[in-house]
Amino acid sequence: MQLKNICCIGAGYVGGPTMAVIALKCPNINVTVVDANPNKIKAWNGPLDSLPVYEPGLDAVVKEARGRNLFFSDDIAGNIEKAEMIFMAVNTPTKTEGEGAGMAADLRYFEACAKDIAKYSKSDKIVIEKSTLPVRTAEKIKEILDENSAEIHFEILSNPEFLAEGTAIQDLFKSDRVLIGGDETESGEKAVRALVGIYANWIPKEKILTTNVWSSELAKLASNAMLAQRISSINSLSALCEKTGANIVELSKAIGMDHRIGPHFLKASVGFGGSCFHKDILNLVYLCKFYGLHEVAEYWHQVVKINDYQKDRFAQKIIDYFGGDINDKRIAILGWAFKANTNDSRESAAIYVSEKLYKAGAYLEIYDPMVKKETILRDINSYWNSNSTQVQQKRINILKSIPSFKEIDATVILTEWNEFKNIKYSDIKVFDGRNILDKSDEIYQIGR
Ligand code: NAD
Ligand code: UGA
Repeated sequence: MQLKNICCIGAGYVGGPTMAVIALKCPNINVTVVDANPNKIKAWNGPLDSLPVYEPGLDAVVKEARGRNLFFSDDIAGNIEKAEMIFMAVNTPTKTEGEGAGMAADLRYFEACAKDIAKYSKSDKIVIEKSTLPVRTAEKIKEILDENSAEIHFEILSNPEFLAEGTAIQDLFKSDRVLIGGDETESGEKAVRALVGIYANWIPKEKILTTNVWSSELAKLASNAMLAQRISSINSLSALCEKTGANIVELSKAIGMDHRIGPHFLKASVGFGGSCFHKDILNLVYLCKFYGLHEVAEYWHQVVKINDYQKDRFAQKIIDYFGGDINDKRIAILGWAFKANTNDSRESAAIYVSEKLYKAGAYLEIYDPMVKKETILRDINSYWNSNSTQVQQKRINILKSIPSFKEIDATVILTEWNEFKNIKYSDIKVFDGRNILDKSDEIYQIGR
């Protein structure tokens, strides 16, 4: 199959970088990323230093491919019509209302995409699930597509994305694996071959794994659950370290040297953040409950519960340091992003730790090198359920650089930005939520 035009619906953290890399590696295919948010498209077409997604190396990829065979557009209808292959990379957050609220995935954006594809398609298409979805979503999508346009054949593939933010470009260049799920029919296999053909331009064939659709959909949720489970496991042990005099860094090293366990994702922290682990595990818990697997659901739910416990435990440690009274104490919050090298703060531990300190009476001086002031205020508004304008006027100051520390009572490191490692922290009480600093008596570090 000779592919000429690919369309991706959703120009976010996944759609933008993945399509930029596909365009870079496949110069003979036109790749157009569309989005319902015209401001985002405008920013993708704007200066390279203010793309909507910050990722090391992304600007260079966009610079080379944009205008050559990589395009960003708000013409959703025209680009659906033109493309032979369509990726759906829209957000799939946790449902906030209706059946499964607080746990199940909200598929409304995904279903809206499918409806658009059905509405604007005039020829057969390969439709690809790039978003993270509950197992058997393809069944639902097929119904929507077939209901809305009977004469056109839609072949649905699952091709979940495994990139991590902050390392997205290197993850896309050198993926551990590319997973493609398709139907075991003639047309399904043909579609799988077409997608394999794209990745084979830069990914070694042995790293491209093909499976049935359901395995592929579930493998994505399960991978995130397994990664998060390792973090909750090590974080749960960090609490025991603090009680016993064992040291979590030494413990992690000792455990990780077993080749059957391995060293990755064993770094104790104030808890995992990010848009996906929390929502994907809750989605897995919901699915298990839906299929009547209550013990399995409870097992995975515990991963999220330990994460909440760790964030709360860390914030409480700071309050306890001040004898339980943090009223009017001035606290510097270093880092708002959920990890280093990203401007993304969704579900960041910083949001929760700051909320607890603020609500206990502290003044907060917040600084992050990449997260914009308006994003921090938006997070405060939506996660804290507080009016950010009032909050800001009262006891919150969002800074453009690292605070002077002159009148600071304590400093809390919540993102492992490199620039926080080199600060001279002497004379300041430091609470290191990411375990990034060398050991010192003046520093409270998780599990040490
Ligand atoms: P995002 O919120 O950054 O981007 C989604 C984009 O889709 C937004 O720009 C939104 O405007 C657009 N959109 C929503 N509905 C639309 C519609 N009907 N038509 C056109 N545009 C629409 O989300 P993201 O972080 O890129 O995540 C997308 C999916 O990928 C999610 O399912 C997520 O779980 C999964 N995922 C994310 C990551 C990550 O690192 N962020 C990694 C792997 C997988
Ligand atoms: C994660 C997965 O790593 C990706 O494979 C997946 O594609 C993605 O979710 C997704 O589906 O969205 P991401 O959330 O971007 O990627 O970043 P991670 O590196 O996994 O970090 C997540 C959180 O865990 C961060 O807050 C990080 O600081 C924390 N973490 C990570 C730890 O606390 N300890 C560790 O050892 C590793």
